[in-house]
Amino acid sequence: MAMNKQRADLTFKDNLRKGRHGWVRLTPAYSVKLVHQILEEHPQIERILDPFSGTGTTGLVAGQRGLHCDLYDINPFLIWLARVKCDNYSVEQIDRTRANANIIVKLANENSSLEQALWIPPISNIERWWSQDRLLPLARIFHALNSVVPNPCREKNLLLIAFCRSLIQWSNAAFNHQSMSFANEDKQLRLFGAEEEIIQNFLAEVEMILGAASAYIPGNTQAFVADSKNGNLDQCQPYDAVITSPPYANRMSYIRELRPYMYWLGYLKKSRDAGELDWQAIGGTWGIATSKLKTWKPHDAYNDIPRLDPLIKEIARSSDVLSRYVHKYFNDISQHLESIHKRLAPQGKVFYVVGNSKFYDTLISVEEIYADLMSKYGFENINVQVIRKRNSKKELFEYIVSADKI
Ligand SMILES: C[S@@+](CC[C@H](N)C(=O)[O-])C[C@H]1O[C@@H](n2cnc3c(N)ncnc32)[C@H](O)[C@@H]1O
Repeated sequence: MAMNKQRADLTFKDNLRKGRHGWVRLTPAYSVKLVHQILEEHPQIERILDPFSGTGTTGLVAGQRGLHCDLYDINPFLIWLARVKCDNYSVEQIDRTRANANIIVKLANENSSLEQALWIPPISNIERWWSQDRLLPLARIFHALNSVVPNPCREKNLLLIAFCRSLIQWSNAAFNHQSMSFANEDKQLRLFGAEEEIIQNFLAEVEMILGAASAYIPGNTQAFVADSKNGNLDQCQPYDAVITSPPYANRMSYIRELRPYMYWLGYLKKSRDAGELDWQAIGGTWGIATSKLKTWKPHDAYNDIPRLDPLIKEIARSSDVLSRYVHKYFNDISQHLESIHKRLAPQGKVFYVVGNSKFYDTLISVEEIYADLMSKYGFENINVQVIRKRNSKKELFEYIVSADKI
């Protein structure tokens, strides 16, 4: 593999072209290709766990290959998304979804007089996401969708995925950086302005979803809301492999770019909820999570990481809170790796896709610390391999850290 290249084919960008994998984008989603490659190289793997499953990439690849896969994530919206992506849909369900989409569009077009009664999610500064003339047609689609299909069902799930795509398609959010930002000028609005176009475009999104939804998934993937810090997996049969990309140690809050979907679909009701959820997440720093960090104390049992100690002291000279952030990140990962060892069958394998990080002038060799921790918790044959260069900063790379339980 060429190690000095950015390799867009090994990121979420490549996934966007791959049917169900491209349904809803999440910047840190990892590569479909990489998961296939691991499973090609290890044909003995049949039962897989992804304890940080995000958009469900591992589960969908495993399902497409006819394998068993359990997915865990702390974020209930992502678990819903993964379930919908890994589900099977009959011809009748696909036909009903298409018919309902047509009724929704008709109703949404007729509903312009209902503007006062429309529900708009309580996202703070919502106008940063959508200008008023986009927000109203989106709210009309959502209102019509819930009137036509009031109860949860497979057809509704597919329509909601299409709605999530419309939300982002018409938002001011720009995803061309590692994390999301907002466009200053609303350039597209000038081009597409008409409300009818936003409503009509929903049908195109539904068709995009239905194209991939009809492909049969032979495997068995299940997804659960769970905190992977501390096991939580006690009843499970042992796994042959863990294939995962844990949260990055770079202060990236996944909740940030997920907020629009989560508010519209009812997973967040007020801004404090996002901070509370991020505090449960490893590496979360959104809202209240940052102030909670200020009083956080390490667990003694997970505090013995010799390679980390000088680094957190160095970061503390510039920022106490960032130093605590890095400290807590590895405290949580230690606890996680200890519990994962118990979940594996003998000869089981782990594959962790991680990135190194830099805080001020301190480079954290995240991959080396994972390797140290795997060794501490009883793994053997530990191997660190560079996969790709991450971005323009020359020291930042992505790695696979793999190991075996003997
Ligand atoms: C790098 S993302 C995984 C991306 C995934 N490989 C994909 O392709 O979409 C890391 C995930 O870990 C989840 N996470 C963070 N802390 C967690 C915890 N304590 N337990 C379970 N999941 C957690 C986040 O919600 C996020 O979805």
